[in-house]
Amino acid sequence: MQNIAEPIVSAELRRRFVSSTRVFVLTGAGVSAESGVPTFRGGGDSEVWKGLPFEVLSSTEMLQLDLAAVWEWFDYRRNLLGILEPNPAHQELARWQHLFPEFTLVTQNIDGLHQKAGSQRVIELHGNIWRARCISCHWCHEISVDADRPEACLQCGDRLRPDVVLFGELLPRGGLERAAEKAAQCQLCFVVGTSALVYPAAGLPEIAKAAGAFVCEVNPERTPLSALCDEVLTGKAGEVLPLIGI
Ligand code: OAD
Repeated sequence: MQNIAEPIVSAELRRRFVSSTRVFVLTGAGVSAESGVPTFRGGGDSEVWKGLPFEVLSSTEMLQLDLAAVWEWFDYRRNLLGILEPNPAHQELARWQHLFPEFTLVTQNIDGLHQKAGSQRVIELHGNIWRARCISCHWCHEISVDADRPEACLQCGDRLRPDVVLFGELLPRGGLERAAEKAAQCQLCFVVGTSALVYPAAGLPEIAKAAGAFVCEVNPERTPLSALCDEVLTGKAGEVLPLIGI
């Protein structure tokens, strides 16, 4: 088993953490890894999904061909996720929202664990598995963990689809724009648990850096963004994040 020594949080990062008023955080699958959610690439338990044609089932083509099959896949995933709990990384980020006058949490995750930990106003770039959206009027319906999901739109009666970004789809309007605006205004930016391979999300820390922010990455592995970062904290989010704010 790999043994990663506890990373040292620099005095510079601590100074910026206590003095910054505008803080921006981008998270990816790695922030939920310690809750038991498989990551997409490397460092996680990705074989849980091996054998399942994930990229085919989660595609716009499949949505048109066989909506029932898409739901079957997402129902299966919700069943797995429904019993999982936020980990110390989610909890620490929920605490941070009270520390700064302006705090922006942007996630690529669809699992809802940030909200379950208490984070509010999370910008969800890739949607949320706990919502269904009408294919006609786009009305969104919450899906409860302990009730059957709605079969049809309560507004217009048409079919519902998962309110997540599928392969081949554009990001929902609004979220990315708001995230980019906040990234451009922040003083301190954290990039947590993302391989930083998927754009446009991976471009947000680049926007922050170009606008003069101090950028810190938290990840057990290096990513294409590591070289751009002012500080790289090598380790698991649930172990590293609680070290920063003390
Ligand atoms: P990835 O699976 O690509 O990357 C996960 C990252 O988390 C890797 O860099 C790991 O090293 C890191 N990691 C693993 N365990 C960690 C831990 N305990 N603490 C911190 N980091 C850890 O996931 P994303 O970057 O989120 O999009 O993937 C981006 C997008 O690609 C996803 O949102 C998804 C996928 O296509 C859609 O489904 C639209």
